[in-house]
Amino acid sequence: MKKALTAGLSVAALTTVAFAANSLDSNPNYKKLKNFHPKGVSNDQCLMCHKTMDPGIVADWQHSKHAKAGVGCVECHVVPKDYPTAFKNHPMQGANWTVQIAVSSVTCAKCHAKEVTEYLNSGHARGGAQWLAVNGSKHGYLMSKLSYYYESLKGKNPSLNGVPGAKMAKGIRKDGSVYYANQNNPKIADLNVANICIQCHGTTVKLDKNGVPDPRTWPSDGIASLYPDGGVGNCLACHSRHKFSAAEARNPASCGNCHLGPDHPMKEIFESSVHGHIYDTNEKDYNFETGAQIPGKTLRAATCFTCHMAAINGLKATHNVSLRLKWNLWAPDSFLRTGGHETAGWAFWKGGGKIIGGKTVIRGNAKAGNPNGPEAARADMKKVCMTCHQATFTNNYFQRVDAAVTIYNQYKAFANKMMKDLKSKGLIKADVWSDPFFKLYYYLWHHEGRRFRHGAAMGSPDYAHWHGVFQVMQDIREMNDIYNYRMKMYKKYGNAKKVLENEPPMPVVTHE
Ligand code: HEC
Ligand code: HEC
Ligand code: HEC
Ligand code: HEC
Ligand code: HEC
Ligand code: HEC
Ligand code: HEC
Ligand code: HEC
Repeated sequence: MKKALTAGLSVAALTTVAFAANSLDSNPNYKKLKNFHPKGVSNDQCLMCHKTMDPGIVADWQHSKHAKAGVGCVECHVVPKDYPTAFKNHPMQGANWTVQIAVSSVTCAKCHAKEVTEYLNSGHARGGAQWLAVNGSKHGYLMSKLSYYYESLKGKNPSLNGVPGAKMAKGIRKDGSVYYANQNNPKIADLNVANICIQCHGTTVKLDKNGVPDPRTWPSDGIASLYPDGGVGNCLACHSRHKFSAAEARNPASCGNCHLGPDHPMKEIFESSVHGHIYDTNEKDYNFETGAQIPGKTLRAATCFTCHMAAINGLKATHNVSLRLKWNLWAPDSFLRTGGHETAGWAFWKGGGKIIGGKTVIRGNAKAGNPNGPEAARADMKKVCMTCHQATFTNNYFQRVDAAVTIYNQYKAFANKMMKDLKSKGLIKADVWSDPFFKLYYYLWHHEGRRFRHGAAMGSPDYAHWHGVFQVMQDIREMNDIYNYRMKMYKKYGNAKKVLENEPPMPVVTHE
């Protein structure tokens, strides 16, 4: 533990010099917890009851490095009685301590300051904040409105795209009755959102007055939940409780929990790449018990963590998964990552667990990446490759990645222009999810365009082509047809409403 502590402190000190704002000490709860040493409580006492109550939890903990190092229930669950996450009704309490149910990364930071600091600098740390982003309403961000109002049928007052709910309701049933199904039971919509976005992204964890978490926000392994003590991030996302194993996190399956599916299929891309094929057929050649990346000894080819996190070829191990990224490949239009470290997590942390207003603070910085800039990020990624490949191979490869990004951006610029023209004439339907042009526009960037870029960047020709650029090309053609039709009819009628009302149904093919 001493080693972890010293390493943590020196990194924190270094970070303070370069980026004054990024200090763990800016969270008062961190200091409070670090200096707290409860008296008269031992791990054996906890086990007396919990060994029979929670045999699974106790067994996982017993098989962890924590158990061997003497880090037990007490070190992670015992907090001061006035701590923001204190569970007031636990059967066993001391004069100045009780138990916490919701354990955030502030607790981990007591001993793993280095990992927590790196994590807070990464794009992962904005995962919970950005989808909740504030721009007027609780579920203000376009995408969270999708799940909250449309998917969960939450009635009254949605203002997606500035359109009143009654109008959007007609997209489902003319009188809106289905749409409003839950208006007298608002909890239902919240609970459903907690099944979906939150499980990957995280959310603001809320506790009742006794410190018991609200089912609308907990449990969740979402990558960047925001806790009442200012803690950001779920370390459990990759190190499942209570084994908290590094080996488990090194396995590509741990990333595949969230990075999969039609809009960000890294798992499928990896599996269909040559690297994934080698991993699938020669799993025994990989030793995840160590972080050392020695070709022929601990691995044969790269896995997710090798490229994005590992200590390799002179690069330091990092919990900042954004450090080696040159481009932003998930955004509607790709751009270079020139924004330095992510600070959304820090902002929350500094506020001691309160959402601080302001769009930029909450949503985070999509340009965050390597503080030395996008070319430094690319140079680092190349170092990863050059552990096993030559410079010619690596340089040629990345010229092709950049070409894919350029082509994608050109397609997108074309789509943007059509969208702008149509919008300016009122030729996009009020309920955007019933507008075939809008849907194609969405799939173009959010599904196929990402698959194209991600497939090219991570070596999967099937995703780069058939699930990617091939479909992008088709989207553009279908959009162009709708665009031309609407423009022609607009000339004829001179009235946008009439154009849309008389448009024959144009089914959009599924974009899996
Ligand atoms: C006398 C038996 C007993 C002892 C000793 C005990 N616990 Fe508990 N613990 C319980 C019971 C019973 C509950 C369920 C309480 C409830 O839900 O209201 C509980 C709940 C918990 C929970 C919350 C579980 C949840 O999700 O609701 C945690 C965490 C916890 N205990 C940790 C500890 C720790 C850490 C210790 C040692 C400091 C400890 N317990 C000692 C009986 C005990
Ligand atoms: C290294 C830190 C750590 C240690 C050690 C630890 N826990 Fe936990 N525990 C956590 C975290 C993190 C969570 C999840 C909290 C969250 O999701 O907000 C958790 C959750 C729990 C829960 C609720 C989850 C559930 O499945 O019901 C219980 C109960 C619990 N711990 C009991 C224990 C007991 C008993 C011990 C000792 C054998 C223990 N913990 C040791 C960190 C720890
Ligand atoms: C009281 C100090 C302390 C706390 C609190 C603590 N840890 Fe640890 N952690 C340790 C020590 C000591 C080790 C063992 C180091 C070793 O054996 O090399 C360790 C090891 C680990 C490892 C590496 C395990 C492996 O398989 O190599 C992970 C992952 C980890 N901790 C995660 C966490 C997380 C997540 C939390 C918060 C929920 C946490 N720790 C809380 C002290 C702590
Ligand atoms: C299966 C896990 C998963 C689910 C469920 C999920 N997401 Fe995501 N989301 C991701 C991943 C992974 C990325 C990162 C993609 C990348 O880096 O290319 C992402 C990226 C995003 C982004 C872009 C990142 C940013 O900072 O703006 C937004 C916005 C977003 N998701 C919102 C949502 C919303 C809203 C929901 C629910 C309607 C949702 N997501 C459901 C995993 C998920
Ligand atoms: C619990 C879900 C979850 C797990 C597990 C997970 N991620 Fe992510 N990851 C996300 C989400 C959500 C985002 C998007 C965050 C955002 O931009 O708001 C993301 C974003 C990323 C990014 C892009 C960051 C940026 O700056 O845009 C990388 C790279 C990444 N993850 C790599 C990994 C790797 C490697 C692993 C496994 C070791 C992993 N992730 C495990 C959910 C997860
Ligand atoms: C995106 C997945 C992911 C998340 C989230 C994550 N880790 Fe890790 N963690 C890893 C991987 C992969 C390794 C192995 C790194 C290596 O070997 O270089 C690791 C290793 C560790 C280690 C062992 C380091 C060592 O030198 O042995 C500790 C401690 C740790 N993590 C703590 C944390 C803490 C604390 C958090 C929450 C802030 C966290 N991790 C969140 C993936 C993750
Ligand atoms: C051979 C190395 C390698 C492997 C293996 C790999 N990646 Fe990547 N990854 C890259 C490269 C290169 C990029 C694009 C970097 C850039 O922007 O220049 C990338 C991009 C990403 C992004 C996109 C971030 C964005 O801007 O949208 C995510 C997320 C990601 N990887 C996650 C994963 C996951 C999860 C796995 C495993 C299932 C994985 N990667 C396997 C090299 C790799
Ligand atoms: C730990 C070793 C290792 C690392 C690191 C690694 N690779 Fe590979 N890669 C291999 C092996 C082994 C093969 C299979 C042998 C071959 O085809 O050259 C391979 C195959 C490939 C292939 C398919 C070869 C072909 O001709 O189609 C590409 C492309 C590739 N790697 C790109 C990369 C890139 C880009 C990086 C860095 C982002 C990288 N690799 C990192 C080991 C590695």
